[in-house]
Amino acid sequence: MTKTELHQLAVDMVSKLLHRRTGQALSADRHWRIDTALETVLRHRGIRSSEDLIVLLTEPGDSGFKEELVEALLNNETYFYRDRQVFDHLAAEVLPAMAREKGASRRLTIWSAGCSTGQEPLTMAMILLDQGECWKGWDIDILATDVSGSAIATARRGVYSNFEIQRGLAVGQMLTHFEEGAAGWRASDRLREMIRFERRNLLEGPPSGAKFDLILCRNLLLYLDAGARRVACGTLQSALAPHGRLLLGGGETVLEHSEMFRPVKGGCGLYKLTGERLAEPARRTA
Ligand SMILES: C[S@@+](CC[C@H](N)C(=O)[O-])C[C@H]1O[C@@H](n2cnc3c(N)ncnc32)[C@H](O)[C@@H]1O
Repeated sequence: MTKTELHQLAVDMVSKLLHRRTGQALSADRHWRIDTALETVLRHRGIRSSEDLIVLLTEPGDSGFKEELVEALLNNETYFYRDRQVFDHLAAEVLPAMAREKGASRRLTIWSAGCSTGQEPLTMAMILLDQGECWKGWDIDILATDVSGSAIATARRGVYSNFEIQRGLAVGQMLTHFEEGAAGWRASDRLREMIRFERRNLLEGPPSGAKFDLILCRNLLLYLDAGARRVACGTLQSALAPHGRLLLGGGETVLEHSEMFRPVKGGCGLYKLTGERLAEPARRTA
């Protein structure tokens, strides 16, 4: 094989690895991302040739190398109050409606699926804390998950740089909910206590336990291929409470992949379950 053919083989293997582990499909015109990720990981590991890379990729198990590669390929872009009008809508319309609907149990469950480094669930927690009286005495549980171990580790630390903290937060919010320290801006204990962070692949089925009143799954489905999206939709459907709401990112939809959801009118990417339920949604172990 020529050097170019070996390189192409390595790129294809990495692309398949990413798909197997996350459901993400990189089209050929985005294979340059693999080259960029490879460059960093290979330099870090001292790997010089495509042959050595192929040997490592074909080894059974994972010494951490494959995981490092997949992590390097994930897009963890996020920031506080991303698409602010969506969070304004949640705060002004959706959460008050949920407070009325769930007034009897006074329990609210939220899942941020694909939470990256934590800004999205922290935004939800800030909104709920800022609404003070409305949620006093409620049992609020926010679960935040991501397939990326390093993103979850950052989210658990809850410390953000000057650049990160200023992306989406006004000065008042920074000072109310974060404390500045030598390492950066640390989320307050009150915020952190509201959120459970877990490493979790959306394609491996729903978290066990109670269903969720609100699921945020934003800017994740767009990276998955059609098959993985169907599986992800099955997970979301199984995890959503019958009256619950699913929030997707701008430009994302579940309608092509599942008949189980209907969009909420004027809902900025919100969906509810249609009355029907599939017997058992598709599952996949990645
Ligand atoms: C672009 S970020 C979006 C973060 C946040 N939801 C937002 O909208 O700001 C996408 C996140 O989805 C995660 N992700 C990708 N595939 C996943 C999967 N199969 N299961 C769980 N998380 C996944 C990535 O690791 C990444 O952190």
